Amino acid sequence: MEARDRTTGRNAAWTLLRDLINERTGIYFDQNSLDLMMDKLLDLMSERGVDSPIDYYYLLKYEGKANDEWANLLNAISVRETYFWRELDQIRALVDVLVPQFSGRFSEPLRIWSAACASGEEPISIAMALDQAGWLDRIPIEIHASDMSPAALCAARRGVYRERAFRSLPAELRARYFTCDSEGWTVAPEIHRRIVWHGANLTNRSDIEELARSRVIFCRNVFIYFSEATIRQVVKTYTEYMPNPGYLFLGAAESLLKFTTQFQLKEIGPAFVYVKE
Ligand SMILES: C[S@@+](CC[C@H](N)C(=O)[O-])C[C@H]1O[C@@H](n2cnc3c(N)ncnc32)[C@H](O)[C@@H]1O
Repeated sequence: MEARDRTTGRNAAWTLLRDLINERTGIYFDQNSLDLMMDKLLDLMSERGVDSPIDYYYLLKYEGKANDEWANLLNAISVRETYFWRELDQIRALVDVLVPQFSGRFSEPLRIWSAACASGEEPISIAMALDQAGWLDRIPIEIHASDMSPAALCAARRGVYRERAFRSLPAELRARYFTCDSEGWTVAPEIHRRIVWHGANLTNRSDIEELARSRVIFCRNVFIYFSEATIRQVVKTYTEYMPNPGYLFLGAAESLLKFTTQFQLKEIGPAFVYVKE
């Protein structure tokens, strides 16, 4: 197929597409991952009957149907890998160290935001851990969760999971918080309804201003896909809106150490947390 010719002047069109995707989503395909981006986009283009990358660029940038196509594209390019009890030390630090410190200290409810929640395993893990420790009904806690991928959010709102999601969750917790039928494992309604689900693009300031007023933000395993400029922009928004003190949890492979920010990296219980004071 003509559009699969990546070696000619079409390179310029692919670069335009790469930069447009970076501008709109924060996701950055560097030289090493450009082929991966092309494969994903070529599949979308063939579904649309679009032959050339430049036509696809114009469709995404200017056409009336662009919103629908962006939804397809977000679903295609987002990496939604996640599972229950992932990087549990940070959840333990929240539940065993921070929440007891917060209890009775602040007048407003404790707001926790899972900022790129994929299909929901992260905020559900947080809610289960809080419930297990007896906090969920003891102090006012709001749990918010968001993602930019419509497919991820649809799965999160449904709350039905397959075997892969349980690879780290102890069997007794699965038995306590999930019921099984032919569709998969459905999370207990008393846990699922504690989470408020939102569609939000982290690079859209207006999408996240309100959510960023959270004392605790879990923003894990999403900055690895962003350019440095985008990370700076998102962290700036967090800095402006998070209350003092505010606690930002990043994934194990992510760091703010090379950026100048108002966050200090601190060891809290078994985990490292970026603290805004
Ligand atoms: C690998 S998952 C991380 C899930 C969970 N936080 C965890 O650590 O297990 C990355 C998620 O980031 C989302 N994402 C990527 N870019 C985003 C953006 N600009 N705004 C919001 N979500 C984004 C993707 O849709 C995907 O669901």
